[in-house]
Amino acid sequence: MAQQTVKRALNVVVLLGTVRENNMGSRAAKFMVNQLSSKGHQVKLLDPEVLDLPLLKKALHHYQDRTQAPQLLQDTNQILADADAFVFVCAEYNHCLPPALTNMVAHFPATSFKYRPAGIVSYSMGPFGGQRAAMQARCLLGEIGCVSPSFLFAIPTIQTQLSETGEAVNDRMTSNADKLITELEWYGTAIVNHKEAVGRPS
Ligand SMILES: Cc1cc2nc3c(=O)[nH]c(=O)nc-3n(C[C@H](O)[C@H](O)[C@H](O)COP(=O)(O)O)c2cc1C
Repeated sequence: MAQQTVKRALNVVVLLGTVRENNMGSRAAKFMVNQLSSKGHQVKLLDPEVLDLPLLKKALHHYQDRTQAPQLLQDTNQILADADAFVFVCAEYNHCLPPALTNMVAHFPATSFKYRPAGIVSYSMGPFGGQRAAMQARCLLGEIGCVSPSFLFAIPTIQTQLSETGEAVNDRMTSNADKLITELEWYGTAIVNHKEAVGRPS
């Protein structure tokens, strides 16, 4: 007999993958923050421009004593560790992942991401919605131990789909966000329930 799914509020961290001047990714990140918040989730945005991490010199997990690492790294790591689910907002640069995203991720141990679902929102100003980078994001997410929902939210010509403040100009944006969030909620809730029952391996 089918069990009733009990939805619960999740801690969701949205990772933005660009620091480019006048970038488009902020639109998608704001949109996803709003969509997730409107469904009752607690959402934090990790913006590499605000974090201002250097190109990787020393990752948190490479400090013998992590309390000696910069406070920013420790605090950000706590945000990641506390997350129940992630959303990676991913541009496509030269058919690859954007360096701001991989640089940010590389500062933290895989254990800070592991055993959580991570949705992919890719975008571009052209017609393909960054889907080649999204495929690479799947590899990255597998490596850091995240479950990647099958629905890829790819946004072609993002400049015509989302305003600067992250408002959608059509219903397709909202219905696609819903598809991704539905999967994130399912995996996120299942994983939180299981974590509460048996803990999370380190
Ligand atoms: C270095 C660079 C490489 C790019 N390569 C691609 C690409 O491979 N495919 C694509 O669809 N768009 C590409 N673009 C265009 C991006 O889709 C577009 O600039 C997008 O707005 C980048 O995201 P951002 O504004 O959030 O940084 C590239 C842009 C830059 C700056």
